[in-house]
Amino acid sequence: MEVKTSLLDNMIGVGDMVLLEPLNEDSFIMNLRNRFDHNEIYTYIGSVVISMNPYRSLPIYTPQKVEEYRNRNFYELSPHIYALADEAYRSLRDQDKDQCILITGESGAGKTEASKLVMSYVAAVCGKGQEVNKVKEQLLQSNPVLEAFGNAKTMRNDNSSRFGKYMDIEFDFKGDPLGGVISNYLLEKSRVCKQPRGERNFHIFYQLLSGASDDTLMKLKLDRDFSKYNYLSLDSANVNGLDDAASFRTVRNAMQIVGFMEAEVQSVLELVAAVLKLGNIEFKPESRVNGFDESRVKDKNDLKEMCELLGIEQSVLERAFSYRTVEAKMEKMSTTLNVAQAYYARDALAKNLYSRLFSWLVTRINESIKAQAKTRHKVMGVLDIYGFEIFEVRDNSFEQFIINYCNEKLQQIFIELTLREEQEEYIREDIEWTNIEYFNNAVICDLIENNQNGILAMLDEECLRPGTVTDDTFLDKLNTICAEHQHFESRLNKNSKFLTDHSLPHSCFRIQHYAGKVLYRVEGFVDKNNDLLYRDLSQAMYKATHSLMRQLFPEGNPAKVNLKRPPTAGFQFKASVGVLMKNLQTKNPNYIRCIKPNDKKVAHIFTDSLVCHQVRYLGLVENVRVRRAGYAFRQPYESCLERYKMLCKKTWPHWRGPARDGVEVLLTDCSVPTEEFAYGRSKIFIRNPRTLFTLEERRRACLEDLATLIQKIYRGWKSRTHFLLLKKSQVVVAAWYRRYAQQNKYQKIKSATLVMQSFIRGWKARNILRQLKYEKRCKEAVTTIAAYWHGTQVRREYRKFFRANAGKKIYDFTIQRIMQKYFLGLKTTTMSPMDNSWPAKPYGFLEGAHTQLRRIFHLWRCKKYRGQFTEEKKAVYEEKLEASEIFKDKKALYPSSVSQPFKGDYLEIQKNPKYQKLNSAMEEKVLLADLVNKINRANGKGSPRLFLLTKSNFVLADQKTGQVKASVPLPDLASVSVSTQSDGFFALKLKEGSASASKGDFLLSSEHLIEIITKLHRIGTTAADRDQINIDISDEFLVQFKQDKVCVKFIQGGPKNGNSAACKRKNNRLLEVSVPSP
Ligand SMILES: Nc1ncnc2c1ncn2[C@@H]1O[C@H](COP(=O)(O)OP(=O)(O)OP(=O)(O)O)[C@@H](O)[C@H]1O
Ligand SMILES: [Mg+2]
Repeated sequence: MEVKTSLLDNMIGVGDMVLLEPLNEDSFIMNLRNRFDHNEIYTYIGSVVISMNPYRSLPIYTPQKVEEYRNRNFYELSPHIYALADEAYRSLRDQDKDQCILITGESGAGKTEASKLVMSYVAAVCGKGQEVNKVKEQLLQSNPVLEAFGNAKTMRNDNSSRFGKYMDIEFDFKGDPLGGVISNYLLEKSRVCKQPRGERNFHIFYQLLSGASDDTLMKLKLDRDFSKYNYLSLDSANVNGLDDAASFRTVRNAMQIVGFMEAEVQSVLELVAAVLKLGNIEFKPESRVNGFDESRVKDKNDLKEMCELLGIEQSVLERAFSYRTVEAKMEKMSTTLNVAQAYYARDALAKNLYSRLFSWLVTRINESIKAQAKTRHKVMGVLDIYGFEIFEVRDNSFEQFIINYCNEKLQQIFIELTLREEQEEYIREDIEWTNIEYFNNAVICDLIENNQNGILAMLDEECLRPGTVTDDTFLDKLNTICAEHQHFESRLNKNSKFLTDHSLPHSCFRIQHYAGKVLYRVEGFVDKNNDLLYRDLSQAMYKATHSLMRQLFPEGNPAKVNLKRPPTAGFQFKASVGVLMKNLQTKNPNYIRCIKPNDKKVAHIFTDSLVCHQVRYLGLVENVRVRRAGYAFRQPYESCLERYKMLCKKTWPHWRGPARDGVEVLLTDCSVPTEEFAYGRSKIFIRNPRTLFTLEERRRACLEDLATLIQKIYRGWKSRTHFLLLKKSQVVVAAWYRRYAQQNKYQKIKSATLVMQSFIRGWKARNILRQLKYEKRCKEAVTTIAAYWHGTQVRREYRKFFRANAGKKIYDFTIQRIMQKYFLGLKTTTMSPMDNSWPAKPYGFLEGAHTQLRRIFHLWRCKKYRGQFTEEKKAVYEEKLEASEIFKDKKALYPSSVSQPFKGDYLEIQKNPKYQKLNSAMEEKVLLADLVNKINRANGKGSPRLFLLTKSNFVLADQKTGQVKASVPLPDLASVSVSTQSDGFFALKLKEGSASASKGDFLLSSEHLIEIITKLHRIGTTAADRDQINIDISDEFLVQFKQDKVCVKFIQGGPKNGNSAACKRKNNRLLEVSVPSP
């Protein structure tokens, strides 16, 4: 809930002077002082803000403060400049009312600071975005630029604005800033040439010399030393707390942000340098023949440099300082200038140059910051203009007169607008208007600005009048014309009452401004009003090649010679003030009245007399009076009811119904006298501050009671809540504990139950089991008994039949069972003919059958096996069978040959080209071809021979050449002899007397002995025409070698040369073959 606060909360003194009681100057100042001492520098008079300069930084301009004041009602928080800025901004944004903020006060009172605070507040609360931020930044950065060129250190203020400034900030319908327009008023240009003691020239000169780089200074032909320049006052060149060099950087940066081109900045600096150079040009008199002195430039160096800077022909400028062309009625005359006139011309040029440069800067800034969009704008104007200037020690001159005139006009519109606003509110609220007595300063304005006989009009008249015109003739004129005016005082007035007034010197006049009397010395009025610049000079400036310079002096253009005098300074100012006033009148005004607490520019000092003086001439007490002439205080019904409703039982705590009725009930109940208030449409008007304070007092007392009540209720509520919480917690804890206890108990019971259950179930099961076992045993017993009984019965019954047949039947059955079992047992034998296994006979009576069966089965399975053979395989097996019949168990070599297949052709005689000839020599198919060893009949040594066997003969051929050595027809072969051993020797014995037997028998040895002999035997068996060949197997046999019968003897036992058998002829009768032991 938002807490409604009010200006009336925690007030120090009174926050709004309207509430001051009693109201007089003393109490007013006391209140200001009281608040100032408590760091409350802002105080209201209604909607006007009085601002005291604190001369130190206070922590009241932070972003948090901005947030605090944002969108709050004006009287809701303690007085602040932000409240005014917020009010103005919101009514601009939400109610579409153009606003102006008028900041007045004397020099050093804080106007410029206040204007910056307002601008920064508005910048902080208005819209955001890239474009908007750029506009804001440009608007804010225009300040440092203008301050550098338009501000100077004065006795009263180290950063005194020496020009008046009015800035219109333009917003779109959303309240986002679009741009702005700045107007400047009356720059104090005399400062360029001369500064009072203790004051300085404009900041920019010092900033340029201290802050510019050596390079820049060299380009500008300047020296860093201030003392080299006549126009710079030296006694206060350095100001405490001002860093000119840093400021120069800030200014250059600001110029860049605002949008100045680099070349433009350079041009501006060149003109500043030119002014400094101009000040150094000095003149000396040169006597002429006619007896007059003519001025000449003393040291031309500065002149030369200045001309170089601006691109002016030196001689032209030099001439302009010595001669002056006067044109009248088509005539041109040249008059010489004396030294004093030359100095005057020089200073006039410097002043004009500088002030025109300043105006150009303002125009240039306006160009950058002007709103782009052409839509309708809402405008907030901020006026920071010099306040009343009254010098006590120094003479008040033309400038002060003009300034004070401006303030007089501002006061006029202030009174007008304040009263108008007051009146409008009364009409709006339907309250009877009581006339307010106040001092209207229109009469003073009239004294100054009246077109016929106003002081400014007379000054102009005097300036334009032909003949000798001096300041004294001007004063004379005033004395005659204004003599009767009640606000004009002069010693030479015909009115005798000032004749003896020594405070009023002869060359002065005094005006009774609304803020007090001001004495003006007329000296310089005419000159300053004329603001004369010799045409020769402006023409010389126009001839410059420097483009900015030419722009500044357009009247120097010879093509545009205008003989009419330019408007006077007074006239121009009056006109611009007139425009300003018109502008302000169309807007909703907001006032900030700045007050300076002391003359020393220090914090914490409050000089009563100084403040009193300002309060007086700002007309602040008058302001309060006007403000509360009718009713001192007003407040919307809702806020009033909200604030005081606790004072009446009927409105407390809630009033249901219209707020106005509520306030009526409330005030009646509080017995406030009826004449003390009036009911408007939306506001209650309270006539006297006292009444308000009584209400406030009662409210404060009531608030204390209410606080106690609230405390009481709050404590009660707190204890109750605490108790209820405790109670609730206790119930929860108890519930949880019970649950826990029950859970425990249940678990115990459950486990006990389970144990018991298991015991009982076990016992029951055992009982049942016992029962079942018993029943089973009974059943078995019964079955057995029954079987026996039936057996007995059956046996008893069938005994007589049984005895006759049973023996045979049992026998048959038994035999049948035995045979069955026997045959089933035979099933285990395999079908392999090699398998020799046969089950053992079970009973002796099966002996014969068992053997027969075995034989039959073997034959049968051999037949089965043979049945699978092809013809070739059959032949092979037949050969193998024959070999077995011949050699089995007769020759030790046989077993090793069983597994070797009979290949027949071991020489591959058909394919081998080596034996092609031999092959073709064979007449029949070669059944066997092998390599054999032929034993030499003489010595028993072996030599390799090819052995070929056909159906009709066998052939021995040379192994190498394949040449046939012997071919023996098989019928010539009588028998073959082999040993019983495992050697490969065989003897082929020929029939005695046959053709082949001439050389004797052959003794050969071969690795395939078994195959060779078998084949020989087989040929013998199959050939019908021949006898079977005898095969003699013994370890001693006879062979016929030629005539000798030799015995071949096989001896078992280790021959010396390894494994194979060795043959040796022992003698004529014996050939020994040693065979390795098996
Ligand atoms: N609100 C403030 N807080 C802190 N210091 C302030 C404040 N207002 C003013 N000052 C100080 O007072 C000095 C003078 O203020 P400022 O320049 O605003 O006066 P001014 O009224 O504009 O004077 P002038 O008429 O000479 O321009 C400032 O330089 C600053 O030091
Ligand atoms: Mg200022």
